[in-house]
Amino acid sequence: MIKIKKASDRVIKQAARIIREGGVVAFPTETVYGLGASAFNPESVARVFEIKKRPWFDPLIVHLSQVKDLKLLCRKIPPQVWLLIEKFWPGPLTLVLKKSQQVPEIVTAGLDTVAVRMPANQIALSLITEAGVPLAAPSANLFGRLSPTTARHVAEQIGEEVDLIIDGGRTHLGVESTVLDCQNDLRLLRPGALPVEELEKVVGKIKIPLPGSRPKSPGQLPKHYAPSVPLKIVKPEEIVVPCGVKAGLLAFRSKKGQGPFKKVEVLSSSGVLREAAANLFAALHRLEQAGLDIIYAEPVPEEGLGMAIMDRLRKAEGLKSR
Ligand code: TXA
Ligand code: MG
Repeated sequence: MIKIKKASDRVIKQAARIIREGGVVAFPTETVYGLGASAFNPESVARVFEIKKRPWFDPLIVHLSQVKDLKLLCRKIPPQVWLLIEKFWPGPLTLVLKKSQQVPEIVTAGLDTVAVRMPANQIALSLITEAGVPLAAPSANLFGRLSPTTARHVAEQIGEEVDLIIDGGRTHLGVESTVLDCQNDLRLLRPGALPVEELEKVVGKIKIPLPGSRPKSPGQLPKHYAPSVPLKIVKPEEIVVPCGVKAGLLAFRSKKGQGPFKKVEVLSSSGVLREAAANLFAALHRLEQAGLDIIYAEPVPEEGLGMAIMDRLRKAEGLKSR
């Protein structure tokens, strides 16, 4: 049976109890829905991996609700990282830092680092505070599939397995957090909802791995975030739909008419990248369910949030990207 409950103080208290007793709860953040368990309970964390069918080598992000809990999780925080924390937390920025002894190996997949973030979502923050422990939480989707931006998306993929889904409505940013390696030089591990340009305003140049280089973040596999239908990135004017093929279009800006497409999803009619990012996964979910043979995706400008959008589209296409 799938248990979805609308967020309320009572439901958050119930969810916190489930977490304390070793259960697994799906909850909204400002980016996508997360699948959370106590970061200090290895067995509960193991269930998260099982439910997601996630490979054990891919570490989880630990979510906290107060900065002082950082000292439970990591050591050696460089001064410039404090600047980022002050400016961007709570928010869609995940920091990879040297881990403390207390963090179980299963959370970090045996690495000596831990990824931490403080989500900017009141339901998530209250849940973490009520549970009294940081939450290890990946996105609440099956491994390699589309990330969930509504409680229904969670229910469709893993609803039977989780102890409770807290419905907090649509997540407002819609793409995952930006992941930054903070051990030596600051280095981008995953482009995300916080544009690199914003980070650079605070800490100066950030290293961006070259396209096609070996991913340093174990979760950055070339094919990831994929809909179950093949996807191809191509400019709409260059698309030729073969006879008898049911094609869908994921357009960036508004389009006149359907053209040769069975279904068209527009990410932002006025071409605003923030709106496009927020709509990305929901639009892909709808295209995935429209009985198509192929989805054509229009490229978006690769600046600001466009970098995260193109990263997810390339992953969906199954090609290497930066
Ligand atoms: O917005 C988000 O970040 C969402 C919400 C739920 O917070 N979470 C999310 O988690 O996207 P997940 O597990 O789907 O992605 C976490 C990424 C993966 O690419 C993983 O490999 C990387 O962070 N990561 C985690 N720990 C790491 C570590 N110690 N070193 C390098 N990369 C790490
Ligand atoms: Mg994920």
